[in-house]
Amino acid sequence: MIAPSILSADFANLAAEAAAVEGCDWLHVDVMDGHFVPNLTLGLPIVQSLLKATDIPFDCHLMIDDPGRWAPSYAEAGAYNVTIHAEATDDPIAVARDIRAAGGRAGLSVKPNTPIEPYLEILREFDTLLVMSVEPGFGGQSFIPGVLEKARIVRNLVDSGELHLVVEIDGGINDDTIEQAAAAGIDCFVAGSAVYNTADPGAAVRKLRNLATA
Ligand code: DX5
Ligand code: ZN
Repeated sequence: MIAPSILSADFANLAAEAAAVEGCDWLHVDVMDGHFVPNLTLGLPIVQSLLKATDIPFDCHLMIDDPGRWAPSYAEAGAYNVTIHAEATDDPIAVARDIRAAGGRAGLSVKPNTPIEPYLEILREFDTLLVMSVEPGFGGQSFIPGVLEKARIVRNLVDSGELHLVVEIDGGINDDTIEQAAAAGIDCFVAGSAVYNTADPGAAVRKLRNLATA
């Protein structure tokens, strides 16, 4: 699956930017609060409006403090997948259950330096694991290959039937890096600059998908 990140899109034309990647799998929406990460993007009102403008399932990546306060509202609004950060909450299980109760799929994300081992046990409460392959906050950074070991560990648990979730990666995915991520067992690839900083975002999505499945 390919999930274009609208972080690199034109924020004054989000409906058109979503239409430009029609045929992708998920639309990745980066919610940043200026606290959990140093950058600030958009929040619930814009997500609610954009949901009405497209049929693409939304993959909301909440880079915010106190995600338990906000995450269920994104699911209620109609987001398909709502991902919170492991580093942002003391009770990720409670947040996951609230997201699911609100009708969404729950995702857990880990920053590049956060080990996965402490979270393996609770991943059964989640539908998605989002492995960050850059420090969250900004698009256009370089891929950190060392995080793929975390993806391999979880891929093995999924393949052996111990876990049932989508393994997703976010940060620095482009034509040069997607194949090594695919080889590590990633199911869903987020790509911001590699999709939107091109003349034809739809073609960029198709090319990434071809490379990932080659
Ligand atoms: C970064 C965001 C990413 C970002 C990726 O914190 O979570 O989703 O859009 O951008 P690229 O694909 O340019 O690295
Ligand atoms: Zn993201």
